[in-house]
Amino acid sequence: MVKAIDSSSRPVAIETPFRLELAQTLLETYGSPLYVYQRDRLDETIQHITRSIPYPHTQFRFASVTNGNLSLLNIFRQNGWGLHANTPGDIYLGLHAGFEPIQIVYSGSNLDRFEIEQALNWGVTTYNLDSLDQLRLFCAVYQSLHLGFSPRLGLRLNLPELTGDSRIGVHPDDFTRAIAITDAAGLALSGLHFYRGTGTNATDAFVSAMDTVIAAAQGLPDWRYLDFGGGFGYPYRHRGGAAFDWHQFGTELDRRLQHCERSIELVIEPGRSAIARCGTLLATVVSVKWQGNVQIVGVDTTVANLSVPSVHGGYREIAAWRSDTVLHPTQVCGNTTYSRDYLSKSCALPALTTGDVIAILDVGAYGYAMSSHFLHRPRPAEVLLEQEAHRLIRQREAYSVLVDHQVFSSSR
Ligand SMILES: Cc1ncc(COP(=O)(O)O)c(C=O)c1O
Repeated sequence: MVKAIDSSSRPVAIETPFRLELAQTLLETYGSPLYVYQRDRLDETIQHITRSIPYPHTQFRFASVTNGNLSLLNIFRQNGWGLHANTPGDIYLGLHAGFEPIQIVYSGSNLDRFEIEQALNWGVTTYNLDSLDQLRLFCAVYQSLHLGFSPRLGLRLNLPELTGDSRIGVHPDDFTRAIAITDAAGLALSGLHFYRGTGTNATDAFVSAMDTVIAAAQGLPDWRYLDFGGGFGYPYRHRGGAAFDWHQFGTELDRRLQHCERSIELVIEPGRSAIARCGTLLATVVSVKWQGNVQIVGVDTTVANLSVPSVHGGYREIAAWRSDTVLHPTQVCGNTTYSRDYLSKSCALPALTTGDVIAILDVGAYGYAMSSHFLHRPRPAEVLLEQEAHRLIRQREAYSVLVDHQVFSSSR
């Protein structure tokens, strides 16, 4: 265990996620850097969220935009959750992970004709659409196919007082036109989808929206389901940051839905809140230098492996396995000269030396999923930890991945 400094500059203990010996074994076995996911933490979080919502007609749909690893998706499936798909690629991954098409909810934006056709042919039954044009296109594609089922349709809600200046969704003023479109295609518009915006830790931002969202949904004569989206935050700062209160959220939503005249199905699409905590990116220190009292730690990973802290301004705690209690202002830098290649610009770590292992915490969401080949470093492997047992769930990439899809002719 080591200490870091919280936003009020007081030293706080940042716990390493597991024993140093285990971290070393993992790096020796699978190479460094390495994404590690802890099954017990994931199960715990899934169960915590599931139990927080007492409303009996609730379905959880994990947002795989945050993490598309099949073995992890399968854990959600085993815990009784379905999948939220943002894109056809999410559907494809979900089907490969073993979800039934009926367990997959599409809530996304701007599909073309072929993608809608593909999703319907895959058998996905629930679609929350973003615009009247998407609704028209969807209905036209549906009518051109001879499916053995009728998909259920919902609208994504755009209400500036709740959703700010979001580009997403349809205003209630347009619901009448939307109903005319679905009626003409013989389909019912039975759902409303609300997305608060990602990473919201203020529970009240959700609770205060509930009455307005439900009132808007009641503007749909065939209203049958409410999808309260994702966007639930995660407390990335272990000290001094607000944490989303699942229990309060679940109780408040339950109370309101219990009072609805008809039985409404509730869909919840947690993303980061469900999976952030179980993931750690292990990296090895390859260089240490000092600039005055600032420790500059070079590690063998890069923002291309984990883009959120540097490119998107997010914060992730970093821990090291050193018992030294004296902490130094530290910058953790990636293994390129890209000017933004920092895994952290402002952490506090003990003096480190080459060969030390660091753990970048809470990287289960938008970690590997947002990694890229920018800077031309192949991606790390992913490993699942079940107690002390570990298994590979995605291979480390080789340099060949950088040329795999290139079409290169040396002729002049
Ligand atoms: C419709 C919808 N639901 C859920 C999510 C998951 O978001 P979060 O990780 O903020 O929970 C997203 C993210 O893009 C989304 O667009």
